This record gives sequence, C-alpha cells and structure tokens, in this order.
Amino acid sequence: MTDQAKDRVYIFDTTLRDGEQSPGATMTHDEKLEIAELLDEMGVDIIEAGFPIASEGDFRAVSEIAERSKNSVICGLARAQINDIDRCWEAVKHANRPRIHTFIGTSPLHRAIPNLTQDEMAERIHQTVTHARNLCDNVQWSPMDATRTEHDYLCRVVEIAIKAGATTINIPDTVGYTAPVESAELIRMLIEKVPGADEIIFATHCHNDLGMATANSLAAVEAGARQIECTINGLGERAGNTALEEVVMALKVRGDIMPYETHIDTRKIMHISRRVATVSGFPVQFNKAIVGKNAFAHESGIHQDGMLKNKETFEIMRPEDVGLAGTSLPLGKHSGRAALRAKLKDLGVDVGDNQLKDIFVRFKDLADRKKEVFDEDILALVTAAMTDGADHLEIVSLKVVCGTGGPAEATLEMEVGGEEKSCVMEGDGPVDATFKAVRALYPNSARLQLYQVNAVTEGTDAQATVSVRLEEDGKIATGQSADTDTVYASAKAYVNALNRLHVRRSKTGTDQKEISYKDVG
Ligand code: KIV
Ligand code: ZN
Repeated sequence: MTDQAKDRVYIFDTTLRDGEQSPGATMTHDEKLEIAELLDEMGVDIIEAGFPIASEGDFRAVSEIAERSKNSVICGLARAQINDIDRCWEAVKHANRPRIHTFIGTSPLHRAIPNLTQDEMAERIHQTVTHARNLCDNVQWSPMDATRTEHDYLCRVVEIAIKAGATTINIPDTVGYTAPVESAELIRMLIEKVPGADEIIFATHCHNDLGMATANSLAAVEAGARQIECTINGLGERAGNTALEEVVMALKVRGDIMPYETHIDTRKIMHISRRVATVSGFPVQFNKAIVGKNAFAHESGIHQDGMLKNKETFEIMRPEDVGLAGTSLPLGKHSGRAALRAKLKDLGVDVGDNQLKDIFVRFKDLADRKKEVFDEDILALVTAAMTDGADHLEIVSLKVVCGTGGPAEATLEMEVGGEEKSCVMEGDGPVDATFKAVRALYPNSARLQLYQVNAVTEGTDAQATVSVRLEEDGKIATGQSADTDTVYASAKAYVNALNRLHVRRSKTGTDQKEISYKDVG
C-alpha cells in the first residue's frame, strides 16, 4: 500500500431500522422516503430501510425505498425464519441492488429465548441463510449479541453462515458491552480462525451504552472489518448506535493514522442530521460531536482570540466540511430570492421552485421581525416548510395575554378539518393557556410526553425551535416548529404532532408494530 492508498470502508446506515426502533422515534412513510433519498445522495453504501415483516407500514416503506433507490444497496432485516426472509425479499427485490439481512441471537442468554441447543441453532442458521441466498445473491448475517457469545461457538456459526452463502458477516455489540481492545480482538480472531473469512466482508455494529460505540467501530476496522453500521445522530435504542457523522469524520480527519476512506459526501452531514432530528423528534444534544450546536462554537476569550489569529488553533476540521457555511454572511430583509437560493445551495439544501417560493415567503416574514437571518434560521425555516402541509388542524390566529397578577389567556382561531373554530382559554402561563385552547377546539386524549424549547441563534429575537412529543394508545407522534415567538412556535409544534397522530389514526394499523422488537438491538 502506498502512502496515499486507502482501504475502502463501506458505510451501512440503519437510521430507518435500528434508529427508528428507539422508543418515540417513529417516522412517517414520507419522512422515511425523504431520509432514504438523502442517505442515497450523501453516498451511503447500504441503507437498511426497515424490518418488512414488522408491519404493513414497514413493508411499504422498504418496498418504496427499494423502488426509488439510485446508488445505495437497499437492505431489509429478517429474523431467522423462512416467512420473515420471504417477506423481506418481497420488499427489497425491487431495488437495483437488494440485500437480505437475517439474524439470530447467539449468546447463551439469547439462545435460551427460543430454547434452542447449540446444534439446533446451528442447523437453523444453515437453513435460513441458505434460503436467503437462494433468493438474493447479497446476504448479510448477524449473530446478535456476538460480543457475549462463546468464542468457539461464534466461530462455528460464522463458518456455517459463510458456507451457506452469506456475503457479509456483521458482528453486533448489541448491548454496548465491549471495549475497543476487545472489539478489535474479536474481529481479528474471526478473520484468523474461520475458514472462508477472507472471502466475505466483516461488519461492525456497535451500541453506545458505555459511550464507546464509535471507538469500538473504529477499532474493529483497524482489525479488518470493512463495513461500519451506524445511524445519523447515533439514533437508536437506549443510548443509541455508532453515529455516522462521527466515524466518517474521524476517518477523514485522522486519515494519517487510520488509512481508510468512505464515499460519503460529508458536506451533506449537517442537513441530514437536522432532518433526522426533526422527523424523529430527537433533538441533537448541544455538545454532540460534529453535529451539535456547539461543535464549532468558540465561547472563551482565549479560544476566540486564537481562532481570529489562526483557525487551526482550536478547530480540527472546517465547519464547511460538514455542511455548515462557516463564515458566510447572514441574510437580511433586503436579500432577494437569488440570494436565498444561493444560501440554500451553500447549506446543501436542494429545493424545487415551489418549495423555494414557500421558504422565501417565510424568510421575508422572519426578516421583517429579525435583523439578521443566520444559517441556522434558514435551516429552521426549511424544516418548518417541509413539516407543514395540508393538515387537519391549522392555526389561523393566536393572541396571548400574560404577565403578573393573573392567569394567562389565549385566544385561538383554528381550522379543524376545514371548519373554523375559536375559543378563549386561561392557563398557568402562556403555553399552558395555548395548549388548553388547542385541546378545547380539538378534544383528544394524547398525553404530552415531551415539551422542549431551544434557541436557534443568539439574542432575544432568536427563533425558538420547539419539540413536542405526544402519546396516544401506544402511538407516539412528534412535532417541531420554529418561530421568533416562542408561544406561537409551541402552538405550531403541538398542532403539528396532533396532525401526525391524526394521520396515523386515519390509516389505522399501518404504523403499528405487529411483532416485538424487544430483543432486537
Ligand atoms: O444490535 C443488534 O444486534 C442488531 C441486530 C439486529 C443486527 O441490531
Ligand atoms: Zn442494533
């Protein structure tokens, strides 16, 4: 290998399967299609689009993503059962490049659940992988909870899966238990001991329970794994998964000691991160590596001084590399449509003419109220434009009176299914009064699980981004909105979540999980 030659590492994104499994992160059909398209455009090699047997909704999403896919391999998940695998194939077979991913829990704890002996499980693996390979020439197999499986048994079952035709063997750290040294040793041991290991690709799939997922994934690559499984923003059950943006940027920035390359267009990272945060309702923590609001912020005087003299003093990567338009100037109320289009292009956002019109109207409205419109504001407007639609509930007007010496009072006019209604409600503060008014006009039993407000930029005229998560009969819906008026943003986020619940209710069953995910990491 010359100095420049780098080994290719395949990026397998499972935001739409493992990520979507995290409680509350359910996405609508259209949102899944949108995220899949963004993943494909950013150069993700393999997209795990869902778990087709889990529900009609999952099946439809995987099939449609497969039909629309351009470059990425489209993969579906299936348990080690013939009917699961058949259903998975039905969904992915429309893709230009389909893959079946089948798995079974191989550790003693997981073998005890179906109550299979080692031999019985080995036989099941042989049958199911053979079946999958007869349908599709691209088959991935995973021994779930591999990091807590006896090494001899792990070698034995990996060999069986390879002989039965698996082309990728994924080694999941399902419960986020392993550490970097161990993660590397496990891959090294498998490569050394398992016959046929040199003919397949080893993948690493790490959960983040001890905060070591990214380090474990990179250690596995050092030891010979060539596929990293990850999600945008590290979304996933419990503490989540390896974050795509972390591994990709770590390989890019530290190519000197980790000579591996991915085909990811890193400038698309920030936009997809924000879209996933919005549609999943899981905001990104401020200090999250790469995509957190503060990841490129410099607060202390010493840091700011250093940055002004030489950016490299406190920055190991350029904000532009992840899609943040570093030092570009804010827009103002005199900026025209061409400037907005150019800014959106800079931010890696592709919009059609109609969407641009809509975003421009929102931008003008905001610029009238706010002196400078920053990149973050623009991205919040894009999100709002993409979230609003022809909805069951639409706010016509909202007026709130609040202050000391009495309860707050909200006067709300809202269209409910096309009919205009209005009411006045009192509450314990402006947001409480507003939410009560929404409930008065649209009675519902949805429980508020989360209400969160973040300022998008600095200053008292900053836009507030509000996230609301609701739960109704086990169904979860999230809504987000942004506005310089925090109460109005709250009302819109609440109504947005109610609209989503309404859509779910009207296509009863399609989004409901029919099988238990409990034992799938
Ligand atoms: O964490 C895990 O083990 C999984 C498998 C289904 C691959 O997600
Ligand atoms: Zn997992």
